Amino acid sequence: PEAGCLSIVVLGASGDLAKKKTFPALFNLFRQGFLNPDEVHIFGYARTKISDDELRNRIRGYLINDKSASSEKLENVSKFLQLIKYVSGSYDSEEGFRLLDKEILEHELSKKSVEGSSRRLFYLALPPSVYPSVCEMIRHYCMNKSDLGGWTRIVVEKPFGKDLESAEQLSSQIGELFEEPQIYRIDHYLGKELVQNLLVLRFANRFFLPLWNRDNIDNVQIVFREDFGTEGRGGYFDEYGIIRDIIQNHLLQVLCLVAMEKPVSLKPEHIRDEKVKVLQSVLPIKDEEVILGQYEGYRDDPTVPDHSNTPTFATMVLRIHNERWEGVPFILKAGKALNSRKAEIRVQFKDVPGDIFKCKKQGRNEFVIRLQPSEAMYMKFTVKQPGLEMLTVQSELDLSYVQRYQGVTIPEAYERLILDTIRGDQQHFVRRDELKAAWQIFTPLLHKIDDGELKPLQYQPGSRGPAEADELLAKAGYVQTHGYIWIPPTL
Ligand code: BG6
Repeated sequence: PEAGCLSIVVLGASGDLAKKKTFPALFNLFRQGFLNPDEVHIFGYARTKISDDELRNRIRGYLINDKSASSEKLENVSKFLQLIKYVSGSYDSEEGFRLLDKEILEHELSKKSVEGSSRRLFYLALPPSVYPSVCEMIRHYCMNKSDLGGWTRIVVEKPFGKDLESAEQLSSQIGELFEEPQIYRIDHYLGKELVQNLLVLRFANRFFLPLWNRDNIDNVQIVFREDFGTEGRGGYFDEYGIIRDIIQNHLLQVLCLVAMEKPVSLKPEHIRDEKVKVLQSVLPIKDEEVILGQYEGYRDDPTVPDHSNTPTFATMVLRIHNERWEGVPFILKAGKALNSRKAEIRVQFKDVPGDIFKCKKQGRNEFVIRLQPSEAMYMKFTVKQPGLEMLTVQSELDLSYVQRYQGVTIPEAYERLILDTIRGDQQHFVRRDELKAAWQIFTPLLHKIDDGELKPLQYQPGSRGPAEADELLAKAGYVQTHGYIWIPPTL
C-alpha cells in the first residue's frame, strides 16, 4: 500500500449524503484500520459558516445511533472526529478553495519526508449542478503538489445528467479538467456484496458456464422494490423519476454483470470493456414493453407538481442482441411504495424438454440472487416429495449469508467503494463510455415520458404495482411458481 499523507475532502459536508453515507463509511474504514491516523486528514467543505466542532457534533449523531454503544466505539468515534477539519467557502469562488488548499498543504508538509505525501481525494457530496464549477476550482487551486508526489482523484455520484445530451455535456465539462483515471463515478449498487459476487459466481463455477445462455435461460428479472414512497425527497425525485433514479443506473449495472461475456482478465478496463459491449447490444425499448406507474397520493407531497407525470414504478423489457442472449427478455422492474422491500436477480430456466412430470410441477428452475435484505443465493428446483408416493415438489438449495457466514459483517457499499478510490481501483466505477451507452438506451423512452406521450398508471401504495406489469411479465414468458415460497432463514 501507498504511504504518505492522505487528505480526504468531503465537499457538501453538511448535506444529507455526507452525513448519512460518506462520513459513516469513512468512520467504518477508520475503525477497521484502513485509515491510518498518522497519515489521514479529513476535510469537510461547505458554505455554512460553522466551526470544526460544530461539524463534528453534527456527524457524531450519525455514527452513534444507539444509546448502548460500547465505550470502545465511543472512543473510536472521538478519535475519528478529531481527524476532521472544516473549511467553509462557496462552490464557485477561488477564495474558499485557496484556503482549502492551504489547509491541506499544511497537513502534507508536516509529513514531507514521505514520498507520495500529496494524495488528495475529493468526494463531491453535492448536487451535479455545481460539479463543473467545483471541478474547475479543484483543478485550479487544489491539485496535489507534484514535488510531494501522490495523486488527485474526484468522486462523483448520480444523477449524471438527465438524458444523453446533458450527461455528455457534464462528462465533457469534467473531462476537460480531469483524466478518466482520476474520475470515480459511484453507483453504490456496484459496492454491494452480492453484486460483487456475480463475477465470481459466473466465471469461477463450472456449474453455470454451460447453462448461462439462450439455450437454457428463458428470462431474467432484475427487481428493486421499496415499501416506502418518496417521503421528504419528492421535489428531487419528481425531476428524475424511477427510471433515472434506479433503473438507468443501479439495475442496468446489475444487468451488465449478469449478461456480459467473460472478461480477458480481472483488470478494471477488461471488465468495463465487456460491460460496455452489453450496453451497446441492447435494442431500442419498445413502448408496448413498458408499464409505468405512479402511486396514489404521490402528488399530495407539496414539493411535487399537481400534474406530475413522473413514474414511481416501471417494468420494462430489455433485449440484448447478441449470440448469447437473442430472444431472452431481461425484465427490469423498480418501484416505490410497494408491498415489500427487496432487490433481487431472478434467472428463470426453460422447461425440461419432453418432461414426463410436467402436469404436476409447481414451477420452473430458478436461480435467485437476493441482493438485499437477507443476502442469499438460492436455486429452486424440483425434487421427489419424501414419502411413499412418487410426487414432485419444489424445493431449494439455499446459500443464505446469515447462516453460512455467521459473524461476518457485510460491508456497506460506500465503505468498500471509498476504499477502492483510495487504492486506485476503478473496477467498480462507471466509465465514461459506459455512462453514455446507458443513457443511449433510456433517453428515447425518457423523452416520451417527459413530453407526456407515455403516462403512468395509478397504483395503490402498499400493492404490487399496476396489474398490467404482471401481465407484461407473463407475456415476456415468466412463469410464476405455485404453492412455494422461499423464506429467508433466521438464526
Ligand atoms: C438511491 C436512490 O440511489 O438508492 C434511492 O436515489 C433509493 O431512491 C436508494 O432509495 C436505494 O439504495 P439501497 O442501497 O437502500 O437499495
